[in-house]
Amino acid sequence: MAFAVHAKPMVLKMASYIIGIDIGTSATKTAVYRLDGTVVAEKSHEYPLYQPHNGWAEQNPLDWWEAVCITLRDVTKKIDPKEVAGVGFSGQMHGLVMLDENNTVIRPAIIWCDSRTGEECDEIHALVGRDNLMEITASPALTGFTASKIRWVQKHEPEQYARCRHILLPKDYIRFMLSGEYHTDASDASGMQLLDIRTRNWSPFVCDRLGIDMSLLAEVRESPQAVSVVSREAAALTGLAEGTILAAGAGDNAAAAVGTGVVSEGKAFTTIGTSGVVFAHIKTPAVDPMGRIHTFCCAVPGEYHTMGVTQAAGLSLQWFKNNFAKDDAYQELDRMAESLPIGAERLLYLPYLMGERTPHLDPDCRGVFFGLSAIHTTAHLYRAVLEGVSYSLCDAYELVAKTGTLITDMAICGGGAKSPFWRQMIADVYGIPLTDMSRGGGASLGAAILGGVAGGAYRDVPSACAAVIKGGAVSTPDASHHFAYAAYLTQYRSLYSTLAPQFKTLSVL
Ligand code: XUL
Repeated sequence: MAFAVHAKPMVLKMASYIIGIDIGTSATKTAVYRLDGTVVAEKSHEYPLYQPHNGWAEQNPLDWWEAVCITLRDVTKKIDPKEVAGVGFSGQMHGLVMLDENNTVIRPAIIWCDSRTGEECDEIHALVGRDNLMEITASPALTGFTASKIRWVQKHEPEQYARCRHILLPKDYIRFMLSGEYHTDASDASGMQLLDIRTRNWSPFVCDRLGIDMSLLAEVRESPQAVSVVSREAAALTGLAEGTILAAGAGDNAAAAVGTGVVSEGKAFTTIGTSGVVFAHIKTPAVDPMGRIHTFCCAVPGEYHTMGVTQAAGLSLQWFKNNFAKDDAYQELDRMAESLPIGAERLLYLPYLMGERTPHLDPDCRGVFFGLSAIHTTAHLYRAVLEGVSYSLCDAYELVAKTGTLITDMAICGGGAKSPFWRQMIADVYGIPLTDMSRGGGASLGAAILGGVAGGAYRDVPSACAAVIKGGAVSTPDASHHFAYAAYLTQYRSLYSTLAPQFKTLSVL
């Protein structure tokens, strides 16, 4: 693939490895793979999520950078860095990173699950027009997306905004730190709500209406393109070789699609990370007119995907365990929950800890346990959390399945999918078989494959996936369980309709 770089690309001794860096919400995971996809070394490093007010979510970009340096130093010790074909990136989407003229981070990044920008979304609709926005970006204004976060800073911190010279997404900030150059890719840029998803470039109309100077935005490339190389300074900090090729990379979900082989029509996956996502590959854009799922560019150049998002999937479980079951291992909690009947003896959980995107697009809704009784134990609550997240994913699955493609294969991946009990529960709730890809690299493998294509180790993304990705065990749905879950799913859905006005009232108390 062609690349435009200032520093010189390294002359490779031999292409033996690819590296993927995944900037997650709870941790960065960096992994080195052989070209056949086998893992050589991997390392994670965690960092905090700051929630200074109800509904706010921020992270320090320098924490991501520190995690990238630590993990890269660790994994590069195990290889000859001169044999790395390329490095690719996957990142939590939508986060707003602002740099001043010295490339110093101006304020903490406002990240994807921050829901402070309800008012700014109304303003965006007034300024751009909801129909225009749907036509250009394929989504109504959403608190999760970057445009409303930029508006919030313009309005509430005008002096900070005046100092801003560059706006980057999380993984693009990391590539900048490695190379000194500003780029983004079409998949991640789709989630800024400033991109025309059809031209795969910034929309002058939307930027103009929102008062965003387009020169602040990075150049948009396709995910497997080589866009820059590792600088001498970054090589010294990370153990990578100076001149190593860096791919544009992808948003974490588009990268996970590559890492699970979801790169052609009909293929889909469900992932349970901090958020939960149901993602389907489509060749040409198809849009839900109500905007309940997103239609974004994907990591295969020129193609697209739909995706529905549960804001607090793994986050619900982590929240529950940290606060109410700190000393119990997940496996033990799974074992106890599995011995309980479907429906957790009439206990339901709505996973709206951070508001919800699919299907409600409601930043004000909040988590609920419904039906508590004196017979309920920690295990019942835990089971209700797993079931509630599964119902929310099912809401996303049904909308994705209706929009633009017939799903023929559904994989499941992400940390939450490592639980065989949860995988089976989701197969039972959806009523379709799920192929377990949780042991594969997911987003970090997808990122590495993009690095490999950029470095010329593979011809293109689909042929790389065909060579590298292998499917795991299949969870087959049990018809009687599907039927039993369906009754609870109906009750789950009606709870939101009943509570929607109450959530609004609560949000202004
Ligand atoms: C997708 C989304 C999340 C983040 C965090 O729209 O907000 O999946 O990418 O992983």
